[in-house]
Amino acid sequence: MFKIGKTKKMSSEKIKKKFLKFFKKKGHKIIPSSSLLPRDATVLFTTAGMQQFTLYLQGEKNSKKDFKTKHLTSCQKCFRTDDIEEVGDDTHHTFFEMLGNWSIGQDSKGKYFKKGAIKYALEFLVDCLEIKKEKLSITIFKGDKGVPKDDTAREIWQKNGILPEKISEFGVKDNFWGPVGKTGPCGPCSEIFYDRGEEFGCKDAKCGPNCPNCNRFVEIWNLVFMEYIKDEEGLYNPLSQKNIDTGIGFERIVSLLQEKKSAYETDLFLPIIKELERISNKTYKENKKIFRILADHIRAIVFLAAEGVFPSNVEQGYILRRLLRRSIRYGKLLGLENGFMVFLTKKVVEIYSDSYPEVKQKELEIIEIIKKEEDKFKKTLEKGLRQFEKISKKGKISDMDAFHLYDTYGFPLELTKELAEEKDITVDEEGFRKAFKKHQEISRAGAEKKFGGVGKNATREATKLHTATHLLHQSLREVLGLRVRQMGSDVTSVRLRFDFSYPEKLTVEQKQEIENMINQKIRDGMKVKKEEMLYRKAIESGALAFFKEKYPERVNVYSILDSSGNVFSKEVCAGPHVNNTEELGHFKILKEKSIAAGIRRIRAILE
Ligand code: ALA
Repeated sequence: MFKIGKTKKMSSEKIKKKFLKFFKKKGHKIIPSSSLLPRDATVLFTTAGMQQFTLYLQGEKNSKKDFKTKHLTSCQKCFRTDDIEEVGDDTHHTFFEMLGNWSIGQDSKGKYFKKGAIKYALEFLVDCLEIKKEKLSITIFKGDKGVPKDDTAREIWQKNGILPEKISEFGVKDNFWGPVGKTGPCGPCSEIFYDRGEEFGCKDAKCGPNCPNCNRFVEIWNLVFMEYIKDEEGLYNPLSQKNIDTGIGFERIVSLLQEKKSAYETDLFLPIIKELERISNKTYKENKKIFRILADHIRAIVFLAAEGVFPSNVEQGYILRRLLRRSIRYGKLLGLENGFMVFLTKKVVEIYSDSYPEVKQKELEIIEIIKKEEDKFKKTLEKGLRQFEKISKKGKISDMDAFHLYDTYGFPLELTKELAEEKDITVDEEGFRKAFKKHQEISRAGAEKKFGGVGKNATREATKLHTATHLLHQSLREVLGLRVRQMGSDVTSVRLRFDFSYPEKLTVEQKQEIENMINQKIRDGMKVKKEEMLYRKAIESGALAFFKEKYPERVNVYSILDSSGNVFSKEVCAGPHVNNTEELGHFKILKEKSIAAGIRRIRAILE
């Protein structure tokens, strides 16, 4: 095994604290992790530490005003779906944590851009963690898409004692980061790799960072020089300010410092792996892939459920369902009894109860969600697997067979694909998607009403109900969580109807809380403000939009503000609306029901 130095025994908790403390000492404010479900509804999950700071990085919010400093640091909960299929190898995870430091706009002395970021990174790794500088390799951006080669970064690395032969250049794929969604802040980046030594490498003479054949060079830190913003047309425009955005994959650095080939063998996963050995009577060594998949997925499941996500057939809920059902199937392969995930959940809670108290607080709810899904799926899994065996004899899985597995046995497409791959046969994915879409259209028929306004001829009553719809939308998100998304809306002069994604019947208490919140907002006499802006700007500023609608380039945005100007609700909307919520009267929910899988409908009136 490689030897990294004195830090060998450092626990993951200690490494995290050391990082945050280091940057605190350098004048950074420690900001808590934001939710795994971002406020910006154009992306499903938080995938990077910078997401909660997007408006600051774009110069639309003032960090100095809100945080009293332009220098921030955090450890962020992240979730990436692109790697689900890769989980099981040494390095991929779905849920992970990311350490980061930010400089929002270059400081007055112009130091904390590339110079400051590189200096701090080296100081932390070399002086604080005692990693040998000779073991580090650096990549820089070689220039592309109208963005020049990063000679400045090379110069700074060299000035800081990195030898020229340890610096290599890559293009957009490896050394240009962002944006998170289609548009937003981004920039060239410089990555720091740790060289674990020849014995971990391929024998290729060109072996180095980003080697496609081996994992000798481990990427530890990504320093993004965030000075561009990508627009709707895909063009990179200069940002009004220069920022630093960095990210360390926490699991990566922990495995490096604990001298393990994989994070699954560090203290972040070991308690889960050991529990799996105990309840299965099997060893990790002989069942590495399955153990790793289960250990990864249970962390993701616990954290998603802690955010209030429920298993469903749409959006975040679908991802949670996929992870749960995949785990249930792998648990079965390992011969585990029903309920095994509860044991694993307890281990995850133990590991994270200090860093993320919400996980401990929600433990019972999380267990409930997992148990329910297990009960639901276990009834059909066995039969579904038998059905799969039968149809797989045809040598391929047709569109209708895949859809039947989904619709009747609850097999997510990805599970069918995985089973097919194990048998080396194909699945007609495109055909499945078509069948799925058709089915969705039928089940939603009548549920959909195009978003728009109530039109020019709106009666005064309809206008009021329209504003009440915005209050309802936001209150649903406040009470039920950010996974609530508008699925349809219809307003007449006597009532409103609002469809939204949510998997369960609302409780009496939840309905009451929502009504109370809306009536409070009405009593508060909140101002309704109308602004016209670019659609892109509206979305970036956090305005909600109905994702099924095609919007023009310029749109109206309606915000509902309290007396200090704080935004309660903000939506892209054609209007019209009242000027002040006090005009609405009393809000009352008449009925709440399901109209399709994962979609609820509320009918409400103003009295
Ligand atoms: N935002 C950068 C990343 O996620 C640091 O890698």
